[in-house]
Amino acid sequence: MSLRPLIVGNWKMNGTRASLSEARAIDRAAQRLAWADVALAPPFTLLYPVHAEVEHIRVGAQDLSTEECGAFTGEVSASMLADAGAQFVIIGHSERRSRHGEDDAALVAKCGRAVDAGLSVILCVGEPLDVRDAAEAEPYVLAQLDAVLPDMAATGPEIGEVVTVAYEPVWAIGTGRSASAPEISAMHRVIRDLLVRRYGEAGGRSVRILYGGSVNGTNAREILALPEVNGALVGGASLTSQSFMSIVLAAGADDAG
Ligand code: 13P
Repeated sequence: MSLRPLIVGNWKMNGTRASLSEARAIDRAAQRLAWADVALAPPFTLLYPVHAEVEHIRVGAQDLSTEECGAFTGEVSASMLADAGAQFVIIGHSERRSRHGEDDAALVAKCGRAVDAGLSVILCVGEPLDVRDAAEAEPYVLAQLDAVLPDMAATGPEIGEVVTVAYEPVWAIGTGRSASAPEISAMHRVIRDLLVRRYGEAGGRSVRILYGGSVNGTNAREILALPEVNGALVGGASLTSQSFMSIVLAAGADDAG
């Protein structure tokens, strides 16, 4: 698959203005890369500061409100994210689903708000361990994804410019135990089939499917070399430019053979 790899750092609830030096270092390093797109999703408080500091990487948010404006204390809307410099937003991360009770209806609403505001979306899906152990992972993940994939107007932008999918098995997030190469390949293949069913040829050709879950500088090369994998969504290892760029460089190592 000849999709340009996308490596996204999800800083989760980490980072203060002191972390801007890491964002700057990532941006400088990304400037020299020809083989990958690089993006950061800092916490809301750093969205505009990171946006103001970088030129060569994309900046996005980790979540958004289902609402557009009004009396929703603590919420941040899609248009506010765009105003702060966000180009994309992560939707449906397992930490949001499990800790904040986000269900399919909320995720559909968020996705609609994001697309209407001109943001692209990274839709996260992934099964918990008991579902994998019960050999139910594929139908579980496909149902999660099918519920939230937006319907696109035939005349609008190409689906891959709007939607990226991130497969993040819950049991691999922050555990140091990434999914195995065969597990990742098999899941990405069935996700690709669903994208083709939903969007036709453009779903096969243009939508990137990222893997996330304990990606680090040691395992990135094997994971990113899989033909079904179009990039990575990285948590802990994205917090310093050194560890994050070792993953980005691994995407290029594959290209170089
Ligand atoms: P880790 O890379 O820390 O496992 O986190 C993955 C993740 O949840 C990225 O969104």
